[in-house]
Amino acid sequence: MAKRSFAILAVVVVLATMVAACRPAPQALKIAILAPLSGDVATFGISTRDGALLAIDEWNAKGGVLGRKIETVVEDSQCEAEPAASAANKVINQDRVKFIIGEVCSKASIPVSEIATANKVVQISPTSTNPKVTVDEAGKAKPTVFRACFIDPFQGTVAAKFALDKLGAKTAAVFLDQGNDYVRGLAEFFRDAFEAGGGKVVVWETYTAGDKDFSAILTKVKDANPDILFLPDYYSTVNLIAAQANQMGIKAVKLGGDGWDSPELDRVATAGGFFTNHYTSEDTRPVVQEFVKKYQAKYGSVPDALAALAYDAANILLMAIQQAGTDDPLKVAQAMEKGRFSVVSGDIVFDEQHNPKKCAVILEVSPEKVSYKDTVCP
Ligand code: PHE
Repeated sequence: MAKRSFAILAVVVVLATMVAACRPAPQALKIAILAPLSGDVATFGISTRDGALLAIDEWNAKGGVLGRKIETVVEDSQCEAEPAASAANKVINQDRVKFIIGEVCSKASIPVSEIATANKVVQISPTSTNPKVTVDEAGKAKPTVFRACFIDPFQGTVAAKFALDKLGAKTAAVFLDQGNDYVRGLAEFFRDAFEAGGGKVVVWETYTAGDKDFSAILTKVKDANPDILFLPDYYSTVNLIAAQANQMGIKAVKLGGDGWDSPELDRVATAGGFFTNHYTSEDTRPVVQEFVKKYQAKYGSVPDALAALAYDAANILLMAIQQAGTDDPLKVAQAMEKGRFSVVSGDIVFDEQHNPKKCAVILEVSPEKVSYKDTVCP
């Protein structure tokens, strides 16, 4: 008798263990990271990926989100519209992600935002600053699209005011790649603010992506001799223009935007210049220094703004998922709209257009380093 009940008990225990072992672990929650990992602006993508992964690793070390492990799908979207759109379609249709961190470049983030909107997928771009990323033609916010950075009307104004008030500039030359939403937008916002503040844009010249020889348009700058040469493009193009301007003996102070932020910015060619940015690793706030320390320990380099904002974007997204209590993208988007998120680049609330209100920093370039100069808040 005792033997029999022992046998039954043993069977029950074995069965119970088998059932427990078979119960599937909660499915991992997938997040896609879309960033340019190759090509002309590869440092943007590498920093973005590394910043986002640092945040995700930290969440996983604490048990993930909603009790689920977080899995990442990383795609090289090349800072271009076509590859970014294919990457977005791939992660949504094949990998079945509901959440996208990216792209970096506005020109790539805009098409991704249309795909995210159509598929009701949440997109948060860490660093795309063109207004059109989060709003449609009618100026209405795309319901599931957000960004972790300020926008270019603000960035252009900060640069223009700095030129007028701090550098005492009266005239400026502006160079732009018209085919790049970010570059064209920033050029126009700078021009509008510079002229509204009493300055005059005396040279306005366009070029095409991939151009290598800028001597024809630089001749116009040489002749006009303006106080400022505004170069709102990414570092790889800025490096070429700046070096050629120096060769031609152009003395205008070079000024630019967040696109200059790269360890590969040619600091010799752009020395004496300034650019607006989202963050500086010199910020002494403990939250910034703690992030810098963790990033450096993991990757062996000082995080740039792309790394910081990708870290922030991942944290904002995961906090919103946690607050929503579900991975339903529409509920997560609502949590983002309502929430306040304390992250490295500041305390964030989103406005009706899904843009955070944030301060900008101005950085100064010397051959040795890029250093903090000023902070400007809206
Ligand atoms: N703001 C740029 C864009 O919208 C991207 C960028 C951000 C580049 C920050 C460098 C640093 O295209």
